[in-house]
Amino acid sequence: MKTVIFGARGYLGTHFSKVFKNALTPRVDISDIGQVVSALEELRPDVVINAAGKTGRPNVDWCEDHKEETLISNVAGPIILLNECAKRNIYLVHLGSGCIYSGDNGGKGFSEEDPPNFSGSFYSRTKAWIDQILKEFPASPDGTGGVLVLRLRMPFDGTNGERNLINKIKNYDHVLDVQNSITYIPDFLEATQKLIEKKATGLYNMVNPGTISPYEIMEMYKEIVDPSKEFERLTSEGLSGITKAGRSICTLNSDKLKGEGIVMKPVKEAVEEALIGVKKMNN
Ligand SMILES: NC(=O)c1ccc[n+]([C@@H]2O[C@H](COP(=O)([O-])OP(=O)(O)OC[C@H]3O[C@@H](n4cnc5c(N)ncnc54)[C@H](OP(=O)(O)O)[C@@H]3O)[C@@H](O)[C@H]2O)c1
Repeated sequence: MKTVIFGARGYLGTHFSKVFKNALTPRVDISDIGQVVSALEELRPDVVINAAGKTGRPNVDWCEDHKEETLISNVAGPIILLNECAKRNIYLVHLGSGCIYSGDNGGKGFSEEDPPNFSGSFYSRTKAWIDQILKEFPASPDGTGGVLVLRLRMPFDGTNGERNLINKIKNYDHVLDVQNSITYIPDFLEATQKLIEKKATGLYNMVNPGTISPYEIMEMYKEIVDPSKEFERLTSEGLSGITKAGRSICTLNSDKLKGEGIVMKPVKEAVEEALIGVKKMNN
């Protein structure tokens, strides 16, 4: 399958490029129809992976002050890809987010059927809008085309990357102690490859089973990586004064993925594996 990755120079796009080694990675503004059409006509891919989007630097607070750019890249761009890929029967894989929910849905976690219920940040609102738009477009009848939306949350791995959740929270003096769903990138990439092989379509929650808090991750960090690490516990009430935009705290249910026979490892095992990797990187 000929694959094109848009947004290949971003954090997740770089990970995708390493796994999809033969993928083409053109520099295309996905919100520019002309550029998208030229790339699709020239490269004629079977699969387009959309890892492009505005996520904000240093964090999603940026999106509060850059709403037009965020809207254009996170909503208009993917709609252009949806339309142009559908015309050419290209299978579109879009990176969505689980940061469109709040809470644990009575302990069950939110499934792909639950409507988004978190609107505390502009970034999350754009991700929720496009998520709900893309889910309206099922696979084409002949088995080509179709749209797969991968909803991940707070990705982490065993590297020194600055966008790795572990490396972000290790710099905080106060660390949030609230349970969350999170995504281990190696498991995520393996599961994604399997979904693409199956030509799965629709929404998929791509999180490791179980929940953990950033504070618990730091307790494991202290044990595995650096016993001298000091940090304090932060509650969700304490977080509200610190960030400009709200932050989603939620649990996603990953039963749909499991139903496909695709299993990501339990979250604590995944964190342990990542921390061993981080320790090796530090030595
Ligand atoms: N990392 C996370 O925590 C996380 C979690 C869940 C979902 N996601 C989703 O995964 C996707 C990738 O995230 P990421 O963490 O890899 O973000 P990232 O590191 O910011 O990478 C995104 C890339 O997309 C590019 N881009 C932005 N607008 C574009 C456009 N209109 N056309 C082409 N490229 C464009 C960015 O370039 P510029 O920097 O030049 O704008 C950047 O290189 C996003 O859709 C994000 O919402 C990320």
